[in-house]
Amino acid sequence: TSLLPLLETLPKAELHLHIEGTLEPELAFALAARNGVALPFTSVDELRAAYDFDDLQSFLDLYYACMTVLRTEQDFADLGRAYLERANADGVRHAELFFDPQVHAANGVPLSTVMDGLLRALADAEAAWGMSGGLILCFVRDQPVASALATLEEAAPRAGDLLGVGLDSAEVCYPPSLFAEVFERARALGLHRVAHAGEEGPPAYVREAVDLLGVERIDHGIRAAEDAALIDLLVERRIPLTVCPHSNVRLKAVAGMHAHPLRTLFDRGVLVTVNSDDPAYFGGYVASNYEAVHAAGFTLDELVRMAANSIDASFASDPRKAELH
Ligand code: ADE
Ligand code: ZN
Repeated sequence: TSLLPLLETLPKAELHLHIEGTLEPELAFALAARNGVALPFTSVDELRAAYDFDDLQSFLDLYYACMTVLRTEQDFADLGRAYLERANADGVRHAELFFDPQVHAANGVPLSTVMDGLLRALADAEAAWGMSGGLILCFVRDQPVASALATLEEAAPRAGDLLGVGLDSAEVCYPPSLFAEVFERARALGLHRVAHAGEEGPPAYVREAVDLLGVERIDHGIRAAEDAALIDLLVERRIPLTVCPHSNVRLKAVAGMHAHPLRTLFDRGVLVTVNSDDPAYFGGYVASNYEAVHAAGFTLDELVRMAANSIDASFASDPRKAELH
């Protein structure tokens, strides 16, 4: 019998979710038509058939191609609304949404258009379901550091509309150390800081993100399991990992759930959380990711612990955390 209905009722926070990665093929085609933008696919089925990835880069190529249909504030409000509705059904009570403004800017979409649309969706979700959350502006690490700095300066007057900053896109060859100045400026602006590290990249990237970027959480971080001293550091400093099981399997970061280092990390006392990353592309939203973790041998009690970890690891206020537990 499936544990899914029960897992959908666990109060949880989603902390690793690229809003552009929630763009389902049906909405992608609807927005392409609405905006007069061409997708390099003729049908929803043909697009879905392309969701067969070899690694992170093969996914990113398709993900960035699909992002070109997102043009107006309404598009971002619709995208956010569709995700938050789905998240609410999965028991998500607090959602922190990543977005990639540099990619949208290259498509001719200003930062304010993206933020205004997503903030409207978040405000509607709070009014409708009492959901809390916010936005995390991600720098794409395969674009120049100067572009990241310029994006942060553009966002600075609206720092109050952001929870924090993150670092994503192609990882290998783009170590966190490149972005030390950007993250220092984000800290000075009072923003929280997270970074993708140790998804495909080595454990040394996780250490750099902690030591040189001062991040408060690591996104993915699964390759930290290869380095015992690094695990100790994550445990001692209570730095959570936002793990994304379906993503790791579909992008071949692991050989399968049976080979996933989640068990090692959890048993060593790392604050692990379960998240969906880019659920439209990887075959399931957050409750489905919890189900995959259960199928890999974690007990219901352990899943309850991970859901509680997600609330503790969030950037919600302390009173809000108490309410969510
Ligand atoms: N952008 C969207 N999903 C990502 C992932 N899993 N890793 C790096 N960048 C991403
Ligand atoms: Zn991610």
